[in-house]
This record gives sequence, structure tokens and C-alpha cells, in this order.
Amino acid sequence: MKHLLYTALFCFLVLQSVNSQQLKSPNGKFIMEFTLQKDGTPSYSLNYKDKTVIKPSKLGLELKDDKKSLLNDFTVIDTKTNSFDETWKPVWGEVESIRNQYNELAITLNQKETDRQIIIRFRLFNDGLGFRYEFPTQKNLVYFVIKEERTQFAMTGDHTAFWIPGDYDTQEYDYTTSKLSEIRGLAEKAKTENLSQTSFSPTGVQTSLMLKTADGLYINLHEAALINYSCMHLNLDDKNMVFESWLTPDEKGVKGYIQAPAHSPWRTIIVSDDAREILASKMTLNLNDPCKIEDTSWIKPIKYVGVWWEMISGKSSWSYTDEFPSVQLGVTDFSKAKPSGTHGANNANVKKYIDFAAANGFGGVLVEGWNEGWEDWFGHYKDYVFDFVTPYPDFDVKGLHEYAKSKGVKMIMHHETSGSVRNYERHMDKAYQFMKDNGYDAVKSGYVGSIISNGDNHYNQFMVNHYQYAVEKAAEYKIMVNAHEAVRPTGICRTYPNLIGNEAARGTEYQAFGGSKPNHVTLLPFTRLIGGPMDYTPGIFEMDLSKFSPNNKSHVNSTIANQLALYVTLYSPLQMAADFPEHYNKFPDAFQFIKDVAVDWSESNYLEAEPGQYITVARKAKGTNNWFIGNVNGYEPRTSNINFAFLEKGKKYTATIYADGKEANYKTNPQAYNVRKIQVTNTSKLSQLSAAGGGYAISIIENKK
Ligand code: NOJ
Ligand code: CA
Repeated sequence: MKHLLYTALFCFLVLQSVNSQQLKSPNGKFIMEFTLQKDGTPSYSLNYKDKTVIKPSKLGLELKDDKKSLLNDFTVIDTKTNSFDETWKPVWGEVESIRNQYNELAITLNQKETDRQIIIRFRLFNDGLGFRYEFPTQKNLVYFVIKEERTQFAMTGDHTAFWIPGDYDTQEYDYTTSKLSEIRGLAEKAKTENLSQTSFSPTGVQTSLMLKTADGLYINLHEAALINYSCMHLNLDDKNMVFESWLTPDEKGVKGYIQAPAHSPWRTIIVSDDAREILASKMTLNLNDPCKIEDTSWIKPIKYVGVWWEMISGKSSWSYTDEFPSVQLGVTDFSKAKPSGTHGANNANVKKYIDFAAANGFGGVLVEGWNEGWEDWFGHYKDYVFDFVTPYPDFDVKGLHEYAKSKGVKMIMHHETSGSVRNYERHMDKAYQFMKDNGYDAVKSGYVGSIISNGDNHYNQFMVNHYQYAVEKAAEYKIMVNAHEAVRPTGICRTYPNLIGNEAARGTEYQAFGGSKPNHVTLLPFTRLIGGPMDYTPGIFEMDLSKFSPNNKSHVNSTIANQLALYVTLYSPLQMAADFPEHYNKFPDAFQFIKDVAVDWSESNYLEAEPGQYITVARKAKGTNNWFIGNVNGYEPRTSNINFAFLEKGKKYTATIYADGKEANYKTNPQAYNVRKIQVTNTSKLSQLSAAGGGYAISIIENKK
């Protein structure tokens, strides 16, 4: 009945001229207009609160070696409308239930000359637009090869953009804030300074791309449900301010091999005049399929520690022997190998981390460098690189599992693939079974370096399929996956919630590789996190790495209070306390927040937000009445004014505030903080100062009567 009503109402919303049709969002704030141009080119435009967000923009795909591309000469042969409204519960998340409400318009187009049909499906939500290409089963479009997708996003002006350069292999960049017209010059300058970029277009940027217009509109461009397709970057025509899709090619330059029936991922445009609504948007998740895993009881959010930062910072090594020299000398039998003496993943050290996890309530211990292969990265001396089942002699898989189990801690597996992807696929069943046999439920995988195989890039279709294969196969084994250097997420964790983490951006490791911009963490939620959670690995308390790793001159550009806030501001069901036990033991009062903070939430309230400047969010820990607040701050010291109205009326709480000290600064005084307790209710207000590159964290615990 409800559906019928919606459909009736909806008929009013679609103007019935075939070549030009309008779609309205359920709240009426958005209008999308589809137009078939004179030469039969499909196009769309988008308005929000009577302002143009996207000017008329072309849609279509260029095909390779084909008599005709899917760009023009179309006629509209069918139009279908629909309305949808449901509420679903994620297995884990920022909120415990999510409303998925949209109006839909599906246009079937026919290309006369080739007698081919495509459908363009638009879904207009209360927070933005998603659309995709569909290729139904048909006689004249069975297999085809994509030369380039030609989806445009025509901007209305020279907006401010928060961007990282287009690259087929990495997203591990600091963000640049500039006008669109400045991208070319800045990218060219960066190109000469940064040799690591493997693909270059002077105006190419990655998604999720955050934009702000001069009159205060926030626009986010990204994609949802990237499956069996190449990852999309954007190229800007900076004369006309028109972005166009730029898919990741394989070695032959091919951007996609498609067999109908098939469809593209969703292209997404999230829009608001309030930056907080961009962060709160669930559109990307809503455009993904519902959960495909029947029994999800084994998928559990977790906080963990690990043998990790010591290798990243250069204090110890992943390899048991010296990395390359020993294999070059022919040492492949580790019972005879001379240990380097710096191997981090040794039994005694791992036990130290297990003890620390158990003593402080962490569920997991990650250990990297536990297995053979690090000494022979390119597999020169064996017929494989890593086999993911052979430990180094000083890492006792069974013994450590028993030890961890006796302390109520789970070991977390590490699979560095060295980018040797077919090798990983060949060993995957055995590797996952080995995990199950030894009590591991979660794996951090990694794809460092160039993809070693047939010239693939990290983000082309073959690789996207590989990452997906790894997640789906892991689900068969009831294994949770946290993939590093994989393609950036697009909301697939709705369908496969065992994908509990991804890196796919510049994480804490870069603080040890030269540092990151102090406002980086105020941008990640507006960009990278739009597609899903990040394993950022926060919690660094010792910012001067040379104190324990003399050759490392990097500085962690953050304050201790900022590091605490990240557990709340960078949403993830998987959170690491990345620093060493001895550093936490030095600051037990600050460490208390990391021990207390939740990793799964029933509500999230974005209290303040401005990309590049600040984010303040309050989250309610699932199954409790307790709240946690995090604030991260950019370059300038700032006072935020917090209203506790989100608390339940009539209840009293003790708030513990972990704040930057007066003199704190991300560079000059990162360890200045103070901890204080106050009583709060839902009428309380708070003014709180954050230092440059700083922030604050607050735990709000309901008083027991
Ligand atoms: C890069 C990952 O981001 C990092 O976390 C990991 O320790 C190394 N690769 C080694 O696999
Ligand atoms: Ca990385």
C-alpha cells in the first residue's frame, strides 16, 4: 500500500517528455534532470535547493576496436520510475540502523545503427545522486572492451578542491587544498618533486574528491560498489571546469572487459550546504547490495596492538636475516641462516605484546614479519615469494597461539603479498586454512610495490577483482580482512562486512616516512572514509622517532590529544593502538582513553566540521549509554563550543576530557596535555581549546546510581 502511494505521488515528479525528464529527491531538495541531446548523447544535471551543482554533463562509454562507441545516436525507448524506502541494520557501523530512501529513474536507450541498448539508472537520495550504466543481455552487445568511460561532472565554477593526484597505484598522498584552476600547476610541480607517481595527468585527481563552492556548497564525488570494473579517477578540463571519468588501465591500456549482463559501479555526488551532512551521509553504503553473508556472528569489531611500529620506524626488521644480502649469498635454509638480530617477530617480543594486550583489554595482536619471504621479496631464490604458512625459526605459531589464547587474546595474521598477486591467489586456500588451524580470525593483507605479474596496476579491473576474491574467499573461511594498498573502498563492507578495514590512503606509517600534514586527519573523513573505514593505526605518543630509532629523523605531526581523538573521528571497527607498550606506560592517564573508547556505535552526531580545519563528532557506544567525543584540529589553534544536548534527558554523566595543554603544538610541544573530569547533563555546554594540529577526546560515562 505504502509503495503504491509512493508510486502515485512519484508520477507527478517525473515530467513526461521523453527526451528530458526530471527526478526529485524524497525531501524535494534535489532535482536531477536527464536530457537526451540533439545528437542522441545522454546527459544529466543536478540542482540542490535551487542552485545548480552539476551543469549539463555528458554520459557514455568509448569502446575499443568497436564499430561504434556508446556515446551518442541514442533514442529513449523506455522510462521506469520507482521509489524505495527501507531501514537496515549494519553488522557494525557508525550508527545501528540506516535509512535507505530514494527515488529512481531508469532510462533505456537504444542506439539505432547498432541496435544496442543500455540503461542509465539514477537514484536520487536526500543527500545526493547515484547513477550507473547497465548493459542488459542482448544480441549485439555481448562482450566489449572499454577504452574509456566518458562520464562528466560539469562544475559551476572554480571551486576549492581537496585533492590527491591521479595515480594507478597509490593513494598514499597528503591532500592539497587549492582552486580547481590551480591543480595543473601544483600537480606539475609535485610531479617533478615526487618521483613515486606512476601515472600522471596534470589535472587528474582521485576520488573520493571533496569540493567546496564559493557560496558554501560542499560536493563529494566518488563511486559506490566498485565490482568487476576499473577504479575511477577524474580528469579536469580546467578551461571549462568539467571533470571526466578516467578509468585505471591494464598494461595494454584497456580499461575494462565486460560481458553482458553487467553494470558499472555507481557514480556518486553527495551534496550539502552543511559539511557535517557530508560526513553523516550513508549514500555510498546504501548503493551497495545488502549483506551476502548469512551468519555474521563471527564478525567482530576489535582494538589491537602489534609488532609493527618498530619495523615502520626502523627500530627492528621484518626479515629474520639481513634482507637481501643473505639470499644473495644463497641462504634460503633458515635453520642455517645467520639471524640479523633485529627481527621484530620473535617469540619473546610477541609475548610482550600479548601480555600488554591482555593487561589492557585489547582483543588482538598483529605480528608482521613472522613468515619467510621478506628476505627474498621478488622470489629470486624460490619458485614463490611468500607461501603464507612458513614461519621464521624464532616465531612459534602454535606456542604463541596457545599463549595468546590462555590470556584471552586473538592473534591477527599478516599476509604481505609483495604485490605478487597470482602467487597469493595460488596459496590463498592453504593460507586461510592455516589461519583457522591456528586460531586466527583476521588478516591484514598488503600489496607493497609494483604488481608483480602481468603489468597490472593496483587499481585496474583485474586487481579490483583480486581484492574482491580475497574478501569473498575469506568470508567462506569466516575470516575478517583488512587490506592495505588495495583499491580504496566504495561501501562494499555493507555486502561483505568481513571487510573490516582498508588502508588505501596515507596512514600513520607516513609519520615515520617523513611526516604528514597536521590537517591530514581533518580531510580523511571527507575523502577516503566516504567509501568505508580506514585502518589508520593511530595512537602514537612518542613523536620524536630518533629517540628510539636513531636514523629516523621523522616527526609525528600531531599532539597526544589529537592521537586520542582519532579513535572517534576516524571511524573504524578495527582500531590499532600503534605505539610501543613502553610509550603507553609513560603516559598512563592519556592511555586510559584508548583503553576505554568503543569500536562499535549506535549513534553518531557530527557536531562541527570543516574540511581541512576541524571535525568534532560524538558517538554513542553500542549497547550502552556512554558517549565518546573526538575533535581534530588543523593548522590554527581553535576553540570549539560543544553542546551536550545529544545526551539523554535526566541522566547524569562523568565526562573525562583529554585536551591539549595550553602550550601544545603538533611540532614544538606535542606531548603537552591535561586530563580533567566534569559532571555533565544534556543541558551542559563546553568551550574547549585545541592546539595547532591538536584536538581533544572526551569519554562520557553514565553515573551509576
Ligand atoms: C605497508 C603497510 O601499509 C604497512 O602497514 C605494512 O607494515 C607494510 N606495508 C609491510 O607489509
Ligand atoms: Ca601502506
